[in-house]
Amino acid sequence: MDQEGQEALKKNLELRFKASKAFNPRTPINETRLFVRRIKQLVKVIDAIGQVGAHVVIYGERGVGKTSFANVLENFLPAPDSRLLIPRIACNSADTFLSVWKRVFSSISLNQKRVQGFSETTTPFKVEEQLTEHATPDEVVGILESLQKNNFGFIVIIDEFDRIEDKPTQNLFADTIKGLSDRAIRGTLIIVGVGESVDQLIESHHSIERAIVQIHMPRMSTSELKEILEKGCVETGLQMDERAKTYICRLAQGMPYYAHLLGLYASYSAIDREVTIILIEHVAKALVSAIEETQETIRSLYHKAIHSNYKNAIYEKVLLACALVIPDERGYFSPSYVREKLRSITGKPYEIPHFMKHLNEFCEERGPILRKIGERYRPKYIFTNPLMPSHVLIRGVQSGMIKEEDLLP
Ligand SMILES: Nc1ncnc2c1ncn2[C@@H]1O[C@H](COP(=O)(O)OP(=O)(O)OP(=O)(O)O)[C@@H](O)[C@H]1O
Ligand SMILES: [Mg+2]
Repeated sequence: MDQEGQEALKKNLELRFKASKAFNPRTPINETRLFVRRIKQLVKVIDAIGQVGAHVVIYGERGVGKTSFANVLENFLPAPDSRLLIPRIACNSADTFLSVWKRVFSSISLNQKRVQGFSETTTPFKVEEQLTEHATPDEVVGILESLQKNNFGFIVIIDEFDRIEDKPTQNLFADTIKGLSDRAIRGTLIIVGVGESVDQLIESHHSIERAIVQIHMPRMSTSELKEILEKGCVETGLQMDERAKTYICRLAQGMPYYAHLLGLYASYSAIDREVTIILIEHVAKALVSAIEETQETIRSLYHKAIHSNYKNAIYEKVLLACALVIPDERGYFSPSYVREKLRSITGKPYEIPHFMKHLNEFCEERGPILRKIGERYRPKYIFTNPLMPSHVLIRGVQSGMIKEEDLLP
């Protein structure tokens, strides 16, 4: 390789490296710089932190950005305070009430001052050693209260709470919230997890309803997704054409994962072609990589849903019509919207009864790729995996059933 070739390769690798750092499809955000503010939710959680007796449950679909939110939260607190302890842990399926609190307390490091005669020594104080093997909510509340008496504030963040499936264990956390609230202890417990409602996360929450501030983390709005792309471009020094941004946002269907993934691969594509503006054609290239990256669970679920030996089967088209509908904030859509989309894909005047069988099969033997809620005459559907609609749309574009223009205003 000649000198010029070497220089070009070096520049290419440098830029690709920058893009890899700017877009994070695989990990939650940890840096405020890359975090797109979820304003409504930030205001609600900060208000709650200010109120004595209020504790927070953050819930939402898988992958909407709950952990990223919890990771950067402390950087948005109005007054930095060195006596404010913010332990943050994630649960796993083997966790018990005791193991969770052991991890919470062992991530707090405190020093204890001891005066002996004229000399003063400082030794580490291990909060977790205050816990007994049969830790109860009362005991945990007592330890947190003693922190408060020593002028420490706390915000305890417990992420992935849905991994604890054992109901009695969940109830112990509800009792802890009740204890903290009843005893007016200054400090906030923040529970984060996947769920459509708080009830799904903490069943016995009726006794603690007044103590809990419920924060629903919705899918991202188009402007929030655009901000992900813009922040990524600032990091890489590239620019993205408005239509390319709109196209990615439409494909991402509110899921930040896809904004990062497509942003990353579209950047690679532009960098390899030695241009500084990312265009729709670079996004089109990114779709190929996105499909290659797709998790096997999504891939096989998609195939199970659309597979048919019958040439005129319309499973693939019905599924695409479902993905084309812009759902409500929680991801639900109704068959009447599917009908419109199916008509425009096929050019045929389908009516709802023509594809009800397909929708119902998607909820059962062909999946479940969809889940149904609501009454018999007014059902609503949701994709069981929130990342699936984007996969279906990308497949639709790749197979030529829809075109880029169909996804752009
Ligand atoms: N506010 C944000 N700004 C920029 N990117 C974000 C933001 N929130 C989430 N993301 C990106 O979206 C993806 C999913 O985020 P995250 O892991 O925080 O979601 P989650 O709701 O905790 O997911 P899970 O339900 O799987 O735990 C990651 O790629 C992350 O980088
Ligand atoms: Mg998470």
